[in-house]
Amino acid sequence: MQNFKKKTAEAIENAVLSLSDSAGLTAADIESFLEYPPDPAMGDLAFPCFRLSKALRNAPPKIAAALAESLKDFSLGLVEAVGGYLNFKVSPDYLSNRVLGEIEEKGASYGSSDIGRGKVVTLDYSSPNICKPFHIGHLGTTVIGHSLKLLHEFAGYTCIGINHLGDWGTQFGKQIVAFRKWGDRETVEKIGIDELVRLYVKFHEEAEKDPALEDEARAEFHKLEEGDPDNLALWQWFVEVSLAEYKKTYRQLGIEFDHYTGESFYIRGGLGDKVIGELREKNLLKLDNGAYIVDLSDYNMPPCIIVKTDGSTIYHTRDIAAALYRKKTYDFDKSIYVTSSQQSLHFAQLFKVIELMGYPWHDRLVHVPYGTVSVDGAKLATRTGNVVLLKDLFRLSVEKVTEVMNEKNPDLENREEVAEAVGVGAIVFNYLYNSRIKDINFTLDQALSFEGSTGPYAQYTYARTCSILEKAGSVPSEGGSMTHASEAELLKTLSLFPEKVSEAIAAYEPSVITRYVIDVCTAFNHFYRDCPIVTADTEDAKTFRLRLTNAAKTVLGSALRLICMKTPEKI
Ligand code: ARG
Repeated sequence: MQNFKKKTAEAIENAVLSLSDSAGLTAADIESFLEYPPDPAMGDLAFPCFRLSKALRNAPPKIAAALAESLKDFSLGLVEAVGGYLNFKVSPDYLSNRVLGEIEEKGASYGSSDIGRGKVVTLDYSSPNICKPFHIGHLGTTVIGHSLKLLHEFAGYTCIGINHLGDWGTQFGKQIVAFRKWGDRETVEKIGIDELVRLYVKFHEEAEKDPALEDEARAEFHKLEEGDPDNLALWQWFVEVSLAEYKKTYRQLGIEFDHYTGESFYIRGGLGDKVIGELREKNLLKLDNGAYIVDLSDYNMPPCIIVKTDGSTIYHTRDIAAALYRKKTYDFDKSIYVTSSQQSLHFAQLFKVIELMGYPWHDRLVHVPYGTVSVDGAKLATRTGNVVLLKDLFRLSVEKVTEVMNEKNPDLENREEVAEAVGVGAIVFNYLYNSRIKDINFTLDQALSFEGSTGPYAQYTYARTCSILEKAGSVPSEGGSMTHASEAELLKTLSLFPEKVSEAIAAYEPSVITRYVIDVCTAFNHFYRDCPIVTADTEDAKTFRLRLTNAAKTVLGSALRLICMKTPEKI
């Protein structure tokens, strides 16, 4: 409806100018005041005329009546004055020619734009801590982050996806000690991260009894920092073992990163020391009980610790280094960080320190927080206690999908691939359906339902569009005419896609797209219920319906892919 909105706003402006010397509002103002009426019977767009009361010195109902009269030849649809509102109904001709034509012409790029052309956006997301498996808490940063990347790319931005691995810190001293004392290579190679976790947990149990282990761990980390080759090799191997496992999950989700520049990258590259030097030079560093901090009490925040009492740098130091590095390397227009809302204070402090350092681009740093996820259902509890591992969740989901598929479509080709796309997609879709900041309680049954607002339902609807088109053989590229209200409703829904993309980007909110996917599915399934397609009464109706089915496939496919969903053609 973006174009319809624009054209309507221009027509209103001209109509106002025919009544008065000055409209008081520009077409762009008018466009921003246009509303979608909650009741479609009221029309497709409404303009609240009180916005013009001042300029026209008249009561809204009078203005509405005068404007309706002056707009009676509006070529894109019907105009009606109802009380203080001017209601517009888009014409069937506009929908079947302009909207459908635009989708057909643009195909997979329909909904995209070039507003980001020439601008770089860095996105820091997923960023797990090495030697720790992915659990359900990582789902948010991973899929919200990737979806935001895809959305920005769709809007023409050059995007850099960065995995800021938690790969440095005193915990690696503990991991080294534990591995040398109780671990062996073969087991780690065979079992992977779970074995590293077991060793880490054992370290803590043993250290309770024998506190000297803590000193040993500190000494090993110190050696690592000093570049001891054995410790470095061991650490490097922990990183590799962990990454190999993360990459399996990324592959299932269809995610790739441009850079795996973790915390160690900044410290080992000497950037941590540079940050400390620069903060000192700028008089921002304060000695506080043996630690170096940046005092943020003027801004009602706790101090930002830069160097701990034991002389080591911390999470904040590396994030300051990373922000400076990214600005210098990528010259970003926006730098996005996606983490749980528990880190909101961390980022508020970080952005404040960048500001105090005198960098004007501090306002280009964006933290995108999300709520916490709790998990319901005994099925999801695992051997590691109440932590739900992402790989277990995906496996259960794929198993359930496979069962249903065996029953409903036993002859399906590529069954494993499809079961994975649907099983993993179900979890992703269920998660991204919620506005990101909401705390959610996750249940497997709900995520795996094939009914209602779910991933399987959306992917199944997409597959339905594919199978209709396949049955028809070929899709006509023009002709046919619109004969049913459900066709018009579907086209109206499809016409909203570009606006939904802008809205999702403006609010950093993939759920706008997830919900829109359901709107498209609902509109398509109503159309499918009401209108025979391949068996339509006339060739004319069939032609139009095939074109419409193809347009729905285009939009649904693009929208699904923007929220990290795969789109199998057969399910
Ligand atoms: N590794 C961190 C964690 O698991 C997330 C890192 C987020 N990115 C950042 N630049 N701080 O909590």
